Amino acid sequence: MKQLNIGLIGTGFMGRTHANAYRQVNTFFPHAIEPVCKVVCGRSVTTTRDFGARWGWQETTTDWRSLIARPDIDVVDICTPNDSHAEIAIAALEAGKMVMCEKPLAMNGGEAQRMVDAAARSGRPTMVSFNYRRVPAVALAKQLVDEGRLGRIFHYRARYLQDWTINPNLPQGGNTLWRLDADTAGSGVTGDLLAHAIDLALWLAGPMREVTAMTETFIRERHLQDDPATLKPVRIDDACAFLARFANGALGTFESTRYACGRKNHNTFEINGEKASIAFDLEDAHQLQFYQHSDDSLVRGFRTIGVWDGDHPYMKNWWVPGCAIGYEHTFIHQVADFLDGLEAGEKRVPDFADGLATQLVCDAVLESARTRMWQQAT
Ligand SMILES: NC(=O)c1ccc[n+]([C@@H]2O[C@H](COP(=O)([O-])OP(=O)(O)OC[C@H]3O[C@@H](n4cnc5c(N)ncnc54)[C@H](O)[C@@H]3O)[C@@H](O)[C@H]2O)c1
Repeated sequence: MKQLNIGLIGTGFMGRTHANAYRQVNTFFPHAIEPVCKVVCGRSVTTTRDFGARWGWQETTTDWRSLIARPDIDVVDICTPNDSHAEIAIAALEAGKMVMCEKPLAMNGGEAQRMVDAAARSGRPTMVSFNYRRVPAVALAKQLVDEGRLGRIFHYRARYLQDWTINPNLPQGGNTLWRLDADTAGSGVTGDLLAHAIDLALWLAGPMREVTAMTETFIRERHLQDDPATLKPVRIDDACAFLARFANGALGTFESTRYACGRKNHNTFEINGEKASIAFDLEDAHQLQFYQHSDDSLVRGFRTIGVWDGDHPYMKNWWVPGCAIGYEHTFIHQVADFLDGLEAGEKRVPDFADGLATQLVCDAVLESARTRMWQQAT
């Protein structure tokens, strides 16, 4: 068995999901390559040590540059806020490392292009953590589209709704509320939530040609988390809605907000084709809705597929039909697919090029909202 030494940067929400994935992957998806939790890097010495002890990392550091400089690290996994992705990824690629990077790939298309160029120069495998591709029901949707079961696609309709920023007293910036600070996050819901919806749309329905968008910032000023006496303008988009034309002629509608009271992680899409429709909602992640027009008209209707059969993507490696899996499994599937790619000597997606494609759509959406004009999406 070949060992693959991982250097994980970031010990927050995503640091935990990725650490869990490295620990679990070969138990459920056996590979000849074994990921080794070698070094974890965070900003605070004590938090990073606690994280390392809890999640089984051999060593800890607070200096990501020293992690990248180590010859014994094979994969650098970036789970830090968005403004650091490009700098860390490019340094890691230049040091000859493989790179796994959280989404959105970068702050903007220019940064993402530099990351793609660095990946091409290094020839090392990359992956972007658009983990919702790895929900079994979403992977099944992809299989149904690729098999031609929907026929020509007319409509792609996506919503990604949350509600956690409704509180006007929530501060911005600092260690935990960096998503509200444009300097660290790049954008608001567009980069944070719509990036996922756009990645799925490009994967399921193909490239987009053009977009027209509107955004809104409902709470215009917030105190700084690190300096509560200071009130600063909010420069992120709290909500965004956009229309898209796909290259295949389909029409897309996308909506995202963090002000949808009651919606926690409402990531949904519906695709209407000439022969069938499919619909997915992350809050019922083990189900896919499927409607087939050729069914006998007496019993025709949307059916709910419980995506837990051994024939469904990823599911033969888990339990028995009827036992649903959940959120953390998408990250385990992501690492399993990455290891599959290494063993087969083939690239696995989404890689940095896919991350760039999504970034360009995000940029076009924000530019359209600013100019109130349609924008090219590639
Ligand atoms: N794939 C998904 O569904 C998903 C979900 C949430 C977040 N994300 C993405 O993951 C990334 C991280 O988000 P999060 O929710 O885990 O954030 P978080 O705030 O929970 O964690 C960020 C971590 O990065 C560390 N960090 C920041 N700067 C650092 C530095 N210079 N050196 C070392 N460590 C540093 C922080 O200490 C913290 O541990 C973001 O890009 C976010 O968009 C993706």
